[in-house]
Amino acid sequence: MDFYEVVKTRRSYRVFTEDVPEEEKVERILNVARIAPTWANGQPCSYIVVKKPENVKAVWEAVGQAPKFAQAPMFIVGIVSEEASGTNSNGQKYYGVDFGICFEHLLLAATAEGLATCWIGWFNEGKIKSILGIPEDYKVMGITPLGYPVKPKGEITERKPLEEIVHYEKF
Ligand SMILES: Cc1cc2nc3c(=O)[nH]c(=O)nc-3n(C[C@H](O)[C@H](O)[C@H](O)COP(=O)(O)O)c2cc1C
Repeated sequence: MDFYEVVKTRRSYRVFTEDVPEEEKVERILNVARIAPTWANGQPCSYIVVKKPENVKAVWEAVGQAPKFAQAPMFIVGIVSEEASGTNSNGQKYYGVDFGICFEHLLLAATAEGLATCWIGWFNEGKIKSILGIPEDYKVMGITPLGYPVKPKGEITERKPLEEIVHYEKF
């Protein structure tokens, strides 16, 4: 898949087959997140691969969005250290930006591997941290199930047109 096909093919999937993604695919995906750019190359993000059925079940419960989601065979939980990121010249903290870049790299790589993901931002952070033993100074900022789609979705259509979001020279 070339780059443009990957970005048009990535969709949010909430229903998955029972097949567990191959380890080499998962490693390639994580490696793409690893090489993403971050503020001053601070590399503040880490990833927890959750595959043990009891942990997968506990994470689903902490996400708590049933019945919208059906079970996926595994999760990648993304965490970020605010301290390891930085603050820009306007006092804007950059850990959220760093995390967004890294996690989107990860989701696009998964798409390129033919896998299905869904960025989940709504979950009980305290429960996730306790289930997975995540240190206090990390924030859980994104979780994705990882699996194979039951039914691939088509290309993205529901977006604002370019004329609405692009301004030339002045707003
Ligand atoms: C930061 C972020 C958080 C999200 N959180 C959730 C979530 O908690 N639950 C959910 O079902 N989808 C979640 N989504 C998925 C969005 O709803 C989805 O990306 C959007 O509707 C566009 O659809 P698409 O991803 O298929 O193109 C999230 C997406 C992003 C980028």
